Amino acid sequence: EKAGYDHFMLKEIYEQPKAYRDTMGARIDDAGKRIVLDEVKMTAQQIQDIHQIHIVACGTAYHAGLVGKSVIESLARIPVEVEVASEYRYRNPIITPNTLVIVVSQSGETADTLAALKEAKRCGARVLAITNVVGSSVSREADDVIVTWAGPEIAVASTKAYTSQLIAFYLLGLYFAQTLGMQEAEVIEETIQALRQLPEQVESILADAEKIKVYAEQISKHDNLFFIGRGLDYAVAQEGSLKLKEISYIHSEAYAAGELKHGTLALIEEGIPVIALATQEELLEKTVSNIKEVAARGAYVMGVGSEGNEEIAKAVDELFTIPRTLPLLTPALSVVPLQLLSYYASLARGNDVDKPRNLAKSVTVE
Ligand code: F6R
Repeated sequence: EKAGYDHFMLKEIYEQPKAYRDTMGARIDDAGKRIVLDEVKMTAQQIQDIHQIHIVACGTAYHAGLVGKSVIESLARIPVEVEVASEYRYRNPIITPNTLVIVVSQSGETADTLAALKEAKRCGARVLAITNVVGSSVSREADDVIVTWAGPEIAVASTKAYTSQLIAFYLLGLYFAQTLGMQEAEVIEETIQALRQLPEQVESILADAEKIKVYAEQISKHDNLFFIGRGLDYAVAQEGSLKLKEISYIHSEAYAAGELKHGTLALIEEGIPVIALATQEELLEKTVSNIKEVAARGAYVMGVGSEGNEEIAKAVDELFTIPRTLPLLTPALSVVPLQLLSYYASLARGNDVDKPRNLAKSVTVE
């Protein structure tokens, strides 16, 4: 059932190109010009009437929501807030009938997410669910459901479900933009073209897994490390950090790169590994200067950058490159080396990769 892989997690990491293709599937028209989301029943008028969007989820699904916020705001220009469900549900959030609440849940059974969904409905909001399980509680309660066709995810650490959630957000952001006339047809087409290249690009990253394995074995000897990034790279850094903690039990923190000097820099000492994500062209110069800040204090830096980027290559000790894509789409690529890093670090430490201690796949307690 592991299809020749040592663990479900590794199998699921390698299933991502297929998960991307299946999640895009018929949701892109044959000409590659438009998004077709028939499962979203909202009328154009209802979409126009959305004043704000709240994305609510837990854990890795919350991290997908952080990317979703950037995607929807930049493509459709609708204001988005993202919050973890266990906070959102208890703080009496301002929800109006013009609020769209998007809940994200792989299992569709997470207690806090389901309760947040019910609270949102009680307040009169429309609820759209992004879930991997057809017929799950979340999918039954929501008004609209976008299914991520990642297939069953067995490993406790989520990989292909997260990246399929990203694909769902790209499709939804484009769909809203197209409905609202927020982007030129060429921009939509160009983004669709770039989306369609992602599966092959992930395959090329996976072909380079050995490189990550070597680095993972090095970091497995440490007890503390940092992930840094700006913008979408910061969102991915948070997911990378969670994944590493979850299965390798190495403590790590994800920091917005520009925030380090406001306290955290005090923790940077000789030899501490720092994983620096620098895929956002516009922020590159700033991130590189943060990399120099930690390197000057003795950090051992592994960079994740886009191919052909000389500036980052010079600033780091090790560099892993991902294929070039649109800045908005980089999370769907840059998270893959981080998944592999956690996997190999966990393996090097002799942990039970698929069943980390203290955790359950589906969290139905509050
Ligand atoms: C981490 C992980 C968890 C889940 C979280 C929400 O790898 O899998 O953080 O993302 O428990 O689960 P779902 O998406 O099923 O609601």
